[in-house]
Amino acid sequence: MSAKPTTAIILGTGLGKLADEIEVTQAIPYSEIPNFPVSTVEGHSGRLILGKLGGKDIMAMQGRFHYYEGYSMKEVTFPVRVMYELGIRTLFVSNAAGGTNPDFHIGTLMIITDHINFFPENPLRGKNLPTGPRFPDMHEPYDLQLVALADRIAAEKGIEVAHGVYLGTQGPTFETPAEYRMFHRMGADAVGMSTVPEVIVARHCGIRVFGVSIITDLGIEGQVEEVSHEEVQKAANAVQPLMADIMREMIKRSE
Ligand code: HPA
Repeated sequence: MSAKPTTAIILGTGLGKLADEIEVTQAIPYSEIPNFPVSTVEGHSGRLILGKLGGKDIMAMQGRFHYYEGYSMKEVTFPVRVMYELGIRTLFVSNAAGGTNPDFHIGTLMIITDHINFFPENPLRGKNLPTGPRFPDMHEPYDLQLVALADRIAAEKGIEVAHGVYLGTQGPTFETPAEYRMFHRMGADAVGMSTVPEVIVARHCGIRVFGVSIITDLGIEGQVEEVSHEEVQKAANAVQPLMADIMREMIKRSE
């Protein structure tokens, strides 16, 4: 590894487009990385990419692991541990999520300002690793300076963004109307099946985090409709370019 990137991106739903813009210098299949979880879905094994984006050396995880696929919380978050050991200190994440905030619409870009861990487990359960304390602070899980930078960039580009709380739950079922209602009352603006485990481990490593959700369906009282994975993908694809625009510019400008 010649370049020493300090920034990594987890290319979740909504950031696939950004992957095409990376000038790839090295792509390491997950199967070649010791102890990396082996992907079981669709024969698409996933790669750790090293390259340049916005003139910066970056690392990108193409293909992430979800708890609903059967991986343990340790497996889901192992790549973040590897990133930290390789020198990553800033992490960008994206996801697709159902919006529970009545101000949202399909296609809303929600900058994540906080989260609720509704997974049945915390990835830090078990022996504490020396990257952080036994009882890690979580008062600012998402870096406020990066949120401010994203707001500035979005305003400059005329891209509308919202702020909100992301609730991570195990899936794989989408929510019932009663569950969306409950999550909204609990303080969630959006609900999804990823991100929270990775962010918890990143924070335990002192990695600063920026996250965005694309609202792909609505879990708003009286507006809950049938939702499918295909619709989620379609709604995410429609706003991908805007998301990529913000992320690219953030990477260019962040130290
Ligand atoms: N719920 C959970 N996960 C999701 C949703 C949702 O409504 N949309 C996209 N991912």
